[in-house]
Amino acid sequence: MLGSTDIRVSPVAFGAWPIAGMTSINVNDADSLATISACLDVGINFIDTAYCYGAQGESERLIARALGPRRDEVVIATKGGIHWGPEGSQVLDGRPETLRRECEESLRRLETDRVELLYLHAPDPKTPIAESAGELKRLLDEGKTRAVGVSNVGVEGLAEFHAVCPLAAYQPPYNMLQREIEADALPWCRERNVSVMVYWPLMKGLLAGKLTRDHVFDAKDGRRKYPMFSGEEWDKNQDFVDHLRAIAAEVGKTVAQVVINWTIHREGIAAALCGAKRAEQLRENAGAMGWRLSTDQLARIDKAIAERGTPVTRRAVR
Ligand SMILES: NC(=O)c1ccc[n+]([C@@H]2O[C@H](COP(=O)([O-])OP(=O)(O)OC[C@H]3O[C@@H](n4cnc5c(N)ncnc54)[C@H](OP(=O)(O)O)[C@@H]3O)[C@@H](O)[C@H]2O)c1
Repeated sequence: MLGSTDIRVSPVAFGAWPIAGMTSINVNDADSLATISACLDVGINFIDTAYCYGAQGESERLIARALGPRRDEVVIATKGGIHWGPEGSQVLDGRPETLRRECEESLRRLETDRVELLYLHAPDPKTPIAESAGELKRLLDEGKTRAVGVSNVGVEGLAEFHAVCPLAAYQPPYNMLQREIEADALPWCRERNVSVMVYWPLMKGLLAGKLTRDHVFDAKDGRRKYPMFSGEEWDKNQDFVDHLRAIAAEVGKTVAQVVINWTIHREGIAAALCGAKRAEQLRENAGAMGWRLSTDQLARIDKAIAERGTPVTRRAVR
């Protein structure tokens, strides 16, 4: 369930960043529309997008096009508070008037009167988080969204936000190798029934197990800028994925399915937001639902994680 609402979400969600085509290569409308439509066939009813997914909101527009009259069969989450600056850099703007304007534009692009979940995408250092939260509370009260969430904050930000606007969801990065939230934010959310919807469950594809050791990243592939995809970090990550490959072969599942299954069964995790740009990826990821890894397999995964140690990643959670 989404927080204390009566909205049910599938534990595997579709992350609609790759279809924006900004950092993923070989993205086209036909494949993106097929990917979104496939959600309805494979038991995924939860779609995660944002105002800034695409230079002109391509992700939200494609979602509306693909769903058409079936829009009410899915739970749509979008986010406001980040837009693209003139040089393609991300601008954090959490001013009340901006959040309202972006929400209204997102609703128009999504061709809907309200979304089920609206997040503050990231705190704006120039705007007190309480001011951003206050505007999201007003949008909640007006029925533009059925629930509110926040992303890219730590416990302090969660508490400040929650004091002004009741939180239904929190969206941090989390996967087998990035588990910072377990120390404080995850318990904080569990105590307050705030659903934790995690991004990067596949660590941008690294944990899907299909990138071979000798993979050469395309010049336009956004992953090139992250340290986990090169040098010694890449080798260590590939060694780790080898352990997962062995477990996946044993259970007759793919590496991505093992990784997502592990994620959605972690205590306090409500959903894994799995990015995809092809329907077959989405189908595969949906196959992570409906079964459990054994105690022995979970123990071997724990051992492999401990042996790998903390990877170097660029993004830090404020
Ligand atoms: N709140 C935030 O600030 C924030 C930040 C990041 C993401 N998010 C949300 O979280 C979602 C997930 O993050 P993400 O998309 O960046 O990363 P991710 O889910 O960890 O990885 C997605 C990538 O993995 C690959 N992949 C997915 N399924 C696969 C499969 N079955 N087999 C092989 N490869 C597969 C695809 O890459 P290729 O096909 O290109 O190899 C895909 O683009 C986003 O889509 C977005 O909705 C939110």
